[in-house]
Amino acid sequence: MHQDVEKILVTEEELNKIAHRLAAQITKDYEGKKLLLVGVLKGSIYFFTDLTRYIDLPCNIDFIQASSYGSGTVSSGNINIIKDIADDLTGFDVLLVEDILDTGNTLKYIHDMLSKRNPESIGVVTLLDKPARRVADIKADYVGTDVPDAFVVGYGLDYDQYYRNLPYIGVLKKSIYEK
Ligand code: IMP
Ligand code: MG
Repeated sequence: MHQDVEKILVTEEELNKIAHRLAAQITKDYEGKKLLLVGVLKGSIYFFTDLTRYIDLPCNIDFIQASSYGSGTVSSGNINIIKDIADDLTGFDVLLVEDILDTGNTLKYIHDMLSKRNPESIGVVTLLDKPARRVADIKADYVGTDVPDAFVVGYGLDYDQYYRNLPYIGVLKKSIYEK
């Protein structure tokens, strides 16, 4: 375990099971639809690549990137789109793939923005859910697992752009960000 991590919350093996379980559900639910999987950069990349490889359907993939965080541990709610997807989503059943739903501000913003582009539907899949911290009115259709109100890193999730490549989800030691 990395020295800055206090404890492991979700192991590699559990992450793999989550990706398989959610992919099987999505494969069932989206059969016959025109599926567009949209990964929210950068945090979702490892989950996105695992999940989408197990979805047994024809689909398109794309990525969107928003910024709100800076280097702190609390979302500002002040969201910028850095990388966007197509303007016209006519006919597509869009599935947004997120690393973690925290306050929900980021995903709510993206969801509302894409709703105006005439998609057939917009669904949300999140690897982690921190329901205790929800502020925005948004719910995930598919959740990997709930996590307690602690700052977590790994498998795509960062603190100040580090720790994304840890192969598990761990709780970051408070001493790292409370300086
Ligand atoms: P929200 O807008 O508060 O829901 O936060 C959205 C983004 O903040 C997520 O997509 C993550 O990238 C990041 N985030 C929220 N909580 C954590 C955490 O515990 N660890 C790392 N990143 C987090
Ligand atoms: Mg992030």
